[in-house]
Order: sequence, then C-alpha cells, then structure tokens
Amino acid sequence: MRTLTGITPTGAVHIGNYFGAMRPAIEAQESGDCYYFVADYHSMTSVTDAAGRKESSRGVIVDWLACGLDPKKCVIWKQSDVPEVCELTWMIGSLTPMGLLERAHSYKDKTSKGISPNFGLFAYPVLMAADILLFDTNAVPVGQDQRQHLEMTRDIAIKYNQTYGETFVIPDAVIRADVAIVPGLDGMKMSKSYGNTLEIFGDEKVLRKKVMSIVMDSRTPAEPKPDAEKNLCIQLLKLVAPASVAADFESRLGAGGLGYGDLKKALFEHYWNFFAAARARRAELLADPGYVDQVLREGAEKARSVATVVITRARKAAGLE
Ligand code: TRP
Repeated sequence: MRTLTGITPTGAVHIGNYFGAMRPAIEAQESGDCYYFVADYHSMTSVTDAAGRKESSRGVIVDWLACGLDPKKCVIWKQSDVPEVCELTWMIGSLTPMGLLERAHSYKDKTSKGISPNFGLFAYPVLMAADILLFDTNAVPVGQDQRQHLEMTRDIAIKYNQTYGETFVIPDAVIRADVAIVPGLDGMKMSKSYGNTLEIFGDEKVLRKKVMSIVMDSRTPAEPKPDAEKNLCIQLLKLVAPASVAADFESRLGAGGLGYGDLKKALFEHYWNFFAAARARRAELLADPGYVDQVLREGAEKARSVATVVITRARKAAGLE
C-alpha cells in the first residue's frame, strides 16, 4: 500500500502545518510505504523568484527532517529531480477534457480573486495527477480542499486505462477528518495568509512576544469562565503540553482567578519545549549541508527508479515506444 503526498514550500513552517500535515505524515512512515516530495514545479505557477524557490524547497525539506521525517523509512525528493513527471503531464493532459479543468474549484477561486491565470495554473491538476500516477500510488492523504483534485486524478487515470489499456493504479484520497484544525493566534484557522501563525523555528524573543500578545476576551481574570475549553490558549496548550497540565490550566481558568499572563507564559514554555528536539536537530542539519544533499540525491534516485518503470509502461501503452 503506497502513500504519496506533495509538500508545498510555503515559507516558515508553523504549528498548524505541524499538527495538520507534518505529524500525520511522519507517523505514517512507521507503517507504510511512504513517498513525499517537495512540489517545486507547482510553485512555478505563482512564484518567479528563482533563488527564493531554491531556498524554500530545500528549507522545507530541512524542516521536515528536523521534525522527524526519516529518509530510511520513506522516500523523500524534490519534484523537479524527477522530470519524467512533466512528460507524463503531457501524456495525460492530452486526454484531459478542458471542461474538467474549467470546473476546478482551486482554479476558479484563484481567477475570481483576480489572479491572472497562466497555462500552468490551469494545468495544475494535471501535473498533480502525474505526481500521483507516476508512482503507482494507492492512497493520497490530503486536506478537504484537495478532494476535487483527487477525483480529477482518478478520472484521468481511468480514461488513460480505457484508451490505452491498463496502465495506472487508481488512487484513493484519504481525507483526514480527525486531524486537528489548529487555531491561529487570532482564533481563526492558523494560516500563513491570515498572518496569525506561530512558527516552529524562529527567534525565541519574537515568538514569545507573539504568544504574550494573544488577545483574551474582555472578562477579568477573576471571573469564572464556564467556557474555558474554548479559550485559545487552552486549545493551543492541549496540543503542546501533557494532558494533565492542560486540564489543570483549563480548570483554573474555568474557576476564575488565573492570571492571563501566567497562562500565556505556560503556553509559551510548553510550546518552546515541545519543539526543542526538532530545533536542535535542525541546527545540526543546517550545519551539515552535505547530509541534506545526500538525502535529496538518494531520494531522487529511489523515486526515479519507480518513475522509470511507470513512465515506460505508459509510453509503451500509448505507442511512444
Ligand atoms: N496541491 C497540493 C496542495 O496544494 C500539493 C500537491 C502537489 C500534492 N502534488 C500533489 C498533494 C500530489 C498530494 C499529491 O496541498
């Protein structure tokens, strides 16, 4: 059972990324045949800063490795190191109806926001289908927002198989319903685009200040708060502190009398400790670029050996060889 997912390099990773995508992916490597890649070709639809792309593709790999991704237990590579994916994009794109792409929510959302679309943005779901089909993927863990892209991938694979004979494995989406939606520092969903993130790696002073500036509601600390479980600091504390510690703070906040500064200080300390090991690991990785190069080289080799088999099968089926 092969699981594959693409990681979009979106800048500094935050705890929303960690609990939503990174931790489940890191846990999955213990039991499954996991394939993870950094989607640097995909970033070309919107990013034209070459040096920035290079840096953030590598940076996101370093961050994932620091958080526990283990190249001995999974295959990890940079998408553009296996350029066969672009060939496959063409092959399957030629069977993809325009109408299917025109109905894509993510494309419609972007154009309705006034983003002027390029061919790459329009074809994004085809490249994503190629990402998946090139590795005989069975399962794709993604957020709800990617469900339609997975349906398109299945439609495209079925069409290829019907047209040229059995070629591709038909993948299933694994929509993670149980995954924590991490609230941001303003109470909305944590997201880079809302500017409400708490980064995993960054300057201690800056991060402490972010936590200490969380806005509490207008009730005084002395007032009892029967809805303490809805408090943002309590929700975040539950993610990073031992359950008994979080429960204790929740009941003290509920009873009234807990100082907001004390609560925020505790939240900061637990959050900071939670990522202490990852921070140390990241410092080691940054000091050893040769190791990261090697991880990427070996990952690309492994990914490529699978991709070669599948692309050859697809080429033969279509009469390209
Ligand atoms: N489109 C995905 C996202 O925005 C990232 C992605 C690219 C992906 N290719 C993929 C995810 C293949 C799963 C499988 O999150």
